[in-house]
Amino acid sequence: MTMKIGILVGSLRAHSYNRMVANTIPDLVPTAQFEHIAIGELPFYNSDLDQDEGPDAVKLFRDQVRAADGIIIVSPEYNAGMPGVLKNALDWASTKAAAGALIKKPAAIIGATPGPRGTIMGQQQIRHTLEGVQALALPYQRMYISEVMHKVDPAVGKLTDATTNKYLQRYVEAFVQWIDQVNLLDR
Ligand SMILES: Cc1cc2nc3c(=O)[nH]c(=O)nc-3n(C[C@H](O)[C@H](O)[C@H](O)COP(=O)(O)O)c2cc1C
Repeated sequence: MTMKIGILVGSLRAHSYNRMVANTIPDLVPTAQFEHIAIGELPFYNSDLDQDEGPDAVKLFRDQVRAADGIIIVSPEYNAGMPGVLKNALDWASTKAAAGALIKKPAAIIGATPGPRGTIMGQQQIRHTLEGVQALALPYQRMYISEVMHKVDPAVGKLTDATTNKYLQRYVEAFVQWIDQVNLLDR
């Protein structure tokens, strides 16, 4: 059966570089099916709202996370950490009403920035939180994209730098293998 992978983008802005990176992934790995999982409509986490299935946006989000064989997070770094909207989404996915939507869920982290350091600090924080929610982050490999403004074509909304695309393809292929390995462990 075709593997189904959910993609969360940690930027809400219309011309997000990280969204351009996310939009490129399905072209590079056509053997898997990719679905964008929106996080922009989630309310701020509040346990008063976290009753039963929660608000509609939360229910939809959790259902999409649960249905995915794995999750790829593509996110900028804000002030050396992860954007608040992304942390908010991971918190909603983690709580009891979600029955731990991310527990044992394979996860991968990609980040792009116009800056020189490729979201290293932000990714460390995301990895730390993924451990906290008991997701299984792809070990060892990292995918940092620096100076991203020179590597995209905004007109098509995709990453077009050939070398970066090759690394991105290898990274996502490694993640697909990681999902297979996690499934074997789970049996
Ligand atoms: C509040 C804020 C903090 C930022 N902090 C960092 C940072 O720590 N490191 C970095 O590389 N870029 C930082 N940036 C720049 C972002 O990488 C840049 O705005 C990027 O384009 C955002 O990603 P997007 O294009 O996907 O929206 C920051 C931007 C904002 C708005």
